[in-house]
Amino acid sequence: MTQQLIDSFGRRVTYVRLSVTDRCDFRCVYCMSEEMTFLPRAQVLTLEEIAQVAQAFTELGVEKIRLTGGEPLVRRNIEQLVSSIGALPGLRDFAMTTNGAGLRRHAEALRQGGMKRLNISLDSLDPERFRRLTRTGDLDKVLDGISAARQAGFERIKLNAVVLKGRNEDEVLDLVEFSRAEGLDISFIEEMPLGDVSDHSRAETYCSSDEVRERIEQRYPLMATTEATAGPSRYYRMEDSETRVGFISPHSHNFCSSCNRVRVTVEGRLLLCLGNEHSVDLRAVLRRYPGDMEKLKAAIVEAMPLKPERHHFTTDGDVQVVRFMNMTGG
Ligand code: GTP
Ligand code: 5AD
Ligand code: SF4
Repeated sequence: MTQQLIDSFGRRVTYVRLSVTDRCDFRCVYCMSEEMTFLPRAQVLTLEEIAQVAQAFTELGVEKIRLTGGEPLVRRNIEQLVSSIGALPGLRDFAMTTNGAGLRRHAEALRQGGMKRLNISLDSLDPERFRRLTRTGDLDKVLDGISAARQAGFERIKLNAVVLKGRNEDEVLDLVEFSRAEGLDISFIEEMPLGDVSDHSRAETYCSSDEVRERIEQRYPLMATTEATAGPSRYYRMEDSETRVGFISPHSHNFCSSCNRVRVTVEGRLLLCLGNEHSVDLRAVLRRYPGDMEKLKAAIVEAMPLKPERHHFTTDGDVQVVRFMNMTGG
């Protein structure tokens, strides 16, 4: 039987989020600071090293891999990595979280490489507001990317919207309407206190999932479902649509007790929890024992007892983790 990864609280780790770059062509206000600097190349895992990490995890019973960033599509030759991960036996779900701007160029190759699902960030449908929230993003390009992704035939496409009070919470219904019209799912996310973003006070912009849900229910009654993607969203359905509306509520509905995931940063740091610093340096193992899958797997197995019970995020505006989201892999 395949070896399994189980932490000290009995949670089985079956989902790994691999960050393939800390770079991004956007600078979303909740994710990065304006003057963000990026890692020097030597500190970043090569595509071959990332593929080895993916293989090691699947040999340890991991069934779901999501590529994140930064923006995964700005990593050169990303298709190569997608094809090698897509061919790994044992993988049931293979997905990417992207800002969408590169999808016109890449969607077809990702699908051909075995990627099944995409999550695309979309916080506003108003071009100027979209620009303010992403600082550098072009809404038309993202909308065109979404359409390219639909044409490429992914099994499912989900939109992600981080909801900030005073910035985009009045667009929640419009985003639901858009998702219904396009036949997409959508998740609304409570902002997490990673990195000092300086653009806004997170205490002031906090908007709970319950408030978002109430806004949607003014037009569409939502029915709770037990559907799950092995991710943190709680899903609801509307009566007359295939669209699922999800809520990711790290503050108001803590989901740590059912956590099934770990992350690997692009520096090869195996992070056991988004909200803590407990980690193991897989890059050191990869570079000390090149190609030695057993050593890599042993390092991953040994890391499991370090997984903490939960995060301790608060909504008081204090930065609880200095690492920015683009360094973390969402
Ligand atoms: P699905 O596979 O579609 O369920 O995706 P996902 O929700 O797991 O991933 P996605 O990349 O779309 O992430 C959406 C939001 O959930 C981001 O803000 C992530 O940071 C957040 N998220 C994902 N996993 C965790 C987690 O373990 N803890 C916390 N607090 N947030 C998480
Ligand atoms: N809090 C919550 N979600 C965030 N994301 C980026 N930064 C934050 C944050 N501080 C979201 C992005 C993307 C996903 C990977 O994480 O919008 O959808
Ligand atoms: Fe880039 Fe995603 Fe961060 Fe926005 S949230 S800056 S798109 S990595």
